[in-house]
Formats: sequence, structure tokens, C-alpha cells
Amino acid sequence: MTDLSSQKFGSAPIFVTGSAGFIGSNFLRKWLRQVGTPVVSLDLLTYAGNLESLFEAREDLRHTFVRGDIADYRLVFELLKSHSPAAIVNFVAESHVDRSILGPEPFVTTNVLGTFRLLEAARAYWQELASPARTAFRFLHVSTDEVFGSLGPSDAPFCESTSYDPSSPYSATKAASDQLVRAWHRTYGLPILLTNCSNNYGPAQFPEKLIPLVILNALEGKRLPIYGDGLNVRDWIYVEDHCEAIMRVLNAGIVGETYCLGGQSERTNIDVVRTICAMLDRLRPRPDGVRHESAVTFVADRPGHDRRYAIDNGKVARTLGWKPSVTFEEGLEQTVKWYLENSAWVGRVRSGEYLSWVEENYTRRTAQ
Ligand code: NAD
Ligand code: DAU
Repeated sequence: MTDLSSQKFGSAPIFVTGSAGFIGSNFLRKWLRQVGTPVVSLDLLTYAGNLESLFEAREDLRHTFVRGDIADYRLVFELLKSHSPAAIVNFVAESHVDRSILGPEPFVTTNVLGTFRLLEAARAYWQELASPARTAFRFLHVSTDEVFGSLGPSDAPFCESTSYDPSSPYSATKAASDQLVRAWHRTYGLPILLTNCSNNYGPAQFPEKLIPLVILNALEGKRLPIYGDGLNVRDWIYVEDHCEAIMRVLNAGIVGETYCLGGQSERTNIDVVRTICAMLDRLRPRPDGVRHESAVTFVADRPGHDRRYAIDNGKVARTLGWKPSVTFEEGLEQTVKWYLENSAWVGRVRSGEYLSWVEENYTRRTAQ
């Protein structure tokens, strides 16, 4: 990995956007550990972005952090001109489906307009580059399997040729951003790469998403809310595996192409929650001796709730030799332990905004 990256990009920095979010911060830290070349990173530090998630990378001299908006064309263009990155890896998005249902506008602003402005800044920068930097430059857009819509129980998994059919404001705006990225390649020749990944879990995921929410609620003796009948299926991938796949695509992916990435771990939501509960019964039993699973509460479903996601990893396995390195149970145990050991991080990221979100989303979902 290290050799490949050094060969491709030399000692030039890469530019990472959304670096204080869940996947971006894991990617940035992995890059510094594994590749070691400099990183310039940009993040607006919305409710979902926390400098605490950067851990040791905050003090690392190879890393320059800038607070700012990807929709700020001037700022982004100036940063690109002054740091001359060899590649851009874009993790920025408003990323939470439930928030997109309650308030879609920031999703349109960031995911669509923001991606457009970032593409325009990247295009202006790239067009001024001289070869070989111009030939080697890459714009990698990190996207989601939610753009493909919902699968039935016996449908074949999503793959690179699956049509887009998004259900939520979140997935519709991600679909729009993906199509902009592809259009900037076809129309202007911008050397793009695109990844569509399944549900991530792991260290430093903001506790609005299912897995960290359930771990933290269980530790606090709160109810464990399951939408609908709990039989919706997600294909879970450990964040470190996703980041490894992004690095491989960045190094050796074919310009203009899409890569579907999945964890080969389809689980129903109720199974995920029961597995977390069983791990916590072993690692952190409740003081009252009651099993954690007793707090499971079925609540009102998410509107437009996609029933099943699953990814066919065939292309990335065949062409780039990537496959997930951990099973769901291994990754989940590491994740549960991470939350047990990082209560200081949890305390800092749960701001007043988080508390009002929990109030807004869950008090209207009465138990079924
Ligand atoms: P996240 O919400 O944890 O992080 C998003 C980051 O973007 C935050 O740090 C936030 O501050 C920043 N941001 C938001 N608006 C910004 C703006 N206008 N300018 C600059 N920074 C801004 O999201 P995540 O879970 O880390 O997801 C990262 C990317 O991966 C997203 O594009 C998401 O669609 C995609 N993705 C996520 C998953 C998943 O399961 N989490 C799976 C597949 C793909
Ligand atoms: O598939 C990739 C996507 O995975 C990413 O693009 C998104 O950014 C990411 O948020 C995630 O979307 P989901 O909607 O699948 O993730 P979430 O953790 O919100 O929910 C996972 C499943 O659990 C989903 O079926 C809804 C359900 N759920 C979620 C919450 C927060 C519950 O049953 N209860 C809950 O309280």
C-alpha cells in the first residue's frame, strides 16, 4: 500500500474534505500511519464534524487542517493552488437519513451545491496543472449504496451497473452529487473515481447512527429504538476496510469508473442490536443484572425506509484485490470496546445540538 501510493503521488500532499467526520477522520489517520505523505484537510465542523475525532492527527506536522465549506469556491481554489495536492478525496456530506427527512434543505445545499462548487474548484486547479501532475491527478468522490434504492429479499446485490433509484432526500442528493461527478468527467475530462459503499461502523461514528446509538443507549440504561419490524437489512462494513478500499481505488482505480464496496455482512437490524446487547452483557453487564436486550423497543418506522441493501464486491475484488479483512462480529466487538474505552470522546461530541436532535427524532416515535 505504502509503495503504491508513494509511486503514484510521490511526496505531494492529498486534499481530504470532510476530515473531521466519521469516515474522513478514520481515512486521514490511516493515511498518515500507512502512507505517510502530507494531508491538507478541510471540514466545516458541522454538528457531525469533531476535531476530537482526529486524535493524534491533530498534532501531526504532516497534517494541515482548515475549517471551511466545500461550497466556498474561492477558499477551496486558493487552498488547492497553495498546497498543490496530487488528489482530492471528498468525504463531505450531510449523511444522516433521518435528519434528511425532518429537514432536507442542508442536504441539497451541501451534497448537491457543495459538490458542484468543489468540482468547479478542482476543475480550475486541475486545468492549470502541467504534466505529469495533471495526468496523475485524481478526484475521488465517496458515495453510498443508498443511491440504488431498496432490494427485495431474493434480489441480486447492487453492483456498478445497477440503476439509481434513491428513496430519501439524503440518497437523492447523494445520487445527484454522483451524477455531477460523472458529468465533470465526461464533459471536462476531470479524472474522477467514484465509490459506492454500504453501511460503515467503527470508531468515532457520530452517535446518531444505529450502532453507536444502541451501544451508548444501552450503557446508559435507555431504550434501544428499532424502527418498524426490525427486519430491514444492511450490509455492514468495518470503517478501516472501507478506508483501505478507498486507498486501493485511489492508487489503481481506472479513471471515470465506479467501484461498489460492501462488507459481505448482511444483517437485519434486530440481529445487529441483539449482537451488541450480547457483547455488552459480557463486557459491561447492567448493574441491575437484567440483560441489555430487555431495553429493545419497537418504534414508528422511518418513512421511505429501504428494506434491504447488499453489495456485490466482485469488481473491486477482481481488479484491485480488495476484500473485507474482518467479519462483522470481529469488527463489532472492536467497535463496542472502542466506545467503552473512549467515554471522553463521547462526552465531547454530544453537544446541546445532539441532545435536541435526540429529543426531536425519538419523542415523536412512540413505542409500537
Ligand atoms: P459524517 O456525517 O460523519 O461526516 C461528514 C463530515 O462532513 C463532517 O465532518 C462535517 O462537518 C463535514 N461537512 C458537512 N458539510 C460540510 C461542508 N459544506 N463543507 C465542509 N465540510 C462539511 O459522514 P460519514 O459517515 O463520515 O460519511 C462520509 C461520506 O461517506 C459521506 O459522503 C457519506 O455519504 C459517505 N458514506 C457513508 C457511509 C456510512 O455508513 N457512514 C456509507 C457509505 C458512504
Ligand atoms: O448504506 C450506507 C448508508 O448507511 C450511508 O450512506 C449513510 O450515510 C449512513 O447513515 C447509513 O444509512 P442508514 O440509514 O442505513 O444508517 P442508520 O444507522 O441511520 O440506520 C441503520 C438501520 O437502522 C436503518 O435500517 C434504520 C435503522 N435504525 C436507525 C436508527 C438511528 C433503527 O432501527 N433505529 C434507530 O434509532
